[in-house]
Amino acid sequence: MTAQSAIHDMKNRPIAVFDSGVGGISVLKHIHALLPFEPLLYVADSKYAPYGNKTPAEIQARCFAIADFLIAKDAKAIVVACNTATAAAIDAMRAKYTLPNNMPIIGMEPAVKPAAEASKNGIIGVLATTGTLKSAQFAGLLESYGRNVKVVTQACVGLVECIERGEITAKNTLSLVEQYCQPLLDAGADTIVLGCTHYPFVRALIEQAVGTEIALIDTGAAVAKHLKQCLLALDLLSDNKQLAQEPSWKNKVQFWTNSEANNAKQVICQLWGQSVEISIL
Ligand code: DGL
Repeated sequence: MTAQSAIHDMKNRPIAVFDSGVGGISVLKHIHALLPFEPLLYVADSKYAPYGNKTPAEIQARCFAIADFLIAKDAKAIVVACNTATAAAIDAMRAKYTLPNNMPIIGMEPAVKPAAEASKNGIIGVLATTGTLKSAQFAGLLESYGRNVKVVTQACVGLVECIERGEITAKNTLSLVEQYCQPLLDAGADTIVLGCTHYPFVRALIEQAVGTEIALIDTGAAVAKHLKQCLLALDLLSDNKQLAQEPSWKNKVQFWTNSEANNAKQVICQLWGQSVEISIL
């Protein structure tokens, strides 16, 4: 292989995106919209969802197992499309994979900073998992960006499981959403952070619970933008623009899941918005 074809090969390797389950598909959609020429690979670690009630050591072990799989699949970059996994494992992942071979690893965190900037009355709500809210990373975020606002946090136990089952419009899901949004409404929040990548899939229910006057902030678009900047800086953006011309290209996003649920494939297609091929991990 010539040096030039090796570079071409590197640029056209897939960007890998993973989450504890199907939630990261909300981030994948932003990445696909912003970087339509990029081959994408998504892993839903649904057999081990939710991460939100696991210890940081358990989450780290899952992240390492998935990263090894993604690297074996020739990923050129890894997006941890999960706030909980980022809080528990991003430092360990970077130490293990970025330092030795320059693998870019992009994480995400609840949008406390943009919410604090957007809030008019200085009261923001954060919906997230217990793991994220208890993490040192989140404490650091509050320390850096939450000082001049009142931050009301709410762990949404059980909500990820509803979304994993594809119950994104179900009555029981709406009841949970209402239950978790009420304390934020009671505190007077005018801005609510969707601090878990599963929650954008129940955005309509959240809007139903809080009304349309309250701003909902999701980080998917910002993560996609940051990913693009990183790949650009490393000269790793795909140069194969032909890919996007293929009518079937949208179906070429590779999905992997280890879910044991009967409707696992159906839920992924429902959330992605079209029928796709899904492999079992
Ligand atoms: N989607 C995840 C997040 O952004 C994790 C949810 C979970 O597995 O508890 O935090």
